[in-house]
Amino acid sequence: MGKSMRLDKFLTEMKCGSRSEVKERIRKGSACVDGQAVLDPGFKVDPDRMRITLNGAAVGWAETEYYMLNKPPGVVSATEDGLHTTVVDLITDSKRKDLFPVGRLDIDTEGLLLITNDGALAHRLLSPNRKVDKVYLAHVTGRLPEDVRERFAEGLVLKDGTALRPASLTFLKEPREAGETAAKALLTIREGKFHQVKRMFEAVGGTVVYLKRISMGPLSLDETLKPGRYRALTQDELRSLERV
Ligand code: URA
Repeated sequence: MGKSMRLDKFLTEMKCGSRSEVKERIRKGSACVDGQAVLDPGFKVDPDRMRITLNGAAVGWAETEYYMLNKPPGVVSATEDGLHTTVVDLITDSKRKDLFPVGRLDIDTEGLLLITNDGALAHRLLSPNRKVDKVYLAHVTGRLPEDVRERFAEGLVLKDGTALRPASLTFLKEPREAGETAAKALLTIREGKFHQVKRMFEAVGGTVVYLKRISMGPLSLDETLKPGRYRALTQDELRSLERV
């Protein structure tokens, strides 16, 4: 089954301008469908079967896009921001203009962020009922209690009374080895409350000084991606997400 959509809607979704700009350009004769100029913005096109050009340049079609970003610090997890660069701004060669990040990382947090326009997938990954594992690497200063692993595993209660689900903590560098420097730990959580990792360590007397997300469900950060770089998900990664 081919899809049929208005030419102006198609060109707008493919980031060729605002809806009114696109209409104007179509009326001026800039758009061609299968080699013929089309002046009616409402002309129905099937982007899978028709070659659509604007000023002679082919406009490609992608219904859904999926990117893995290694979020750098200083960039906000939003689609638009008056002040800061957003994670969506970093995806410079996307076709779609309706991309958004699946969940949020704090401005100073780094690591794995999925950027897509697949709302159903985002809903599955973020739904609290599905308990999708998220693994973070945290560097933590301060005196942590001996039983911090047990307290996280039992389900911590934050300072404001929020009860958390069990989380698992593994030290890569134990607090007692850390001395004046930071302990290093992997923390797996299955929910995504606001500033959750930072607040968990705060609740036991620690301060997170560095935070990076390593994985989310079946997706693991591609360590060859430098901070700020991204790539499309592979077929295997896409298949793994179908099972979430
Ligand atoms: N927990 C936090 O505190 N910050 C993040 O960015 C993600 C999880």
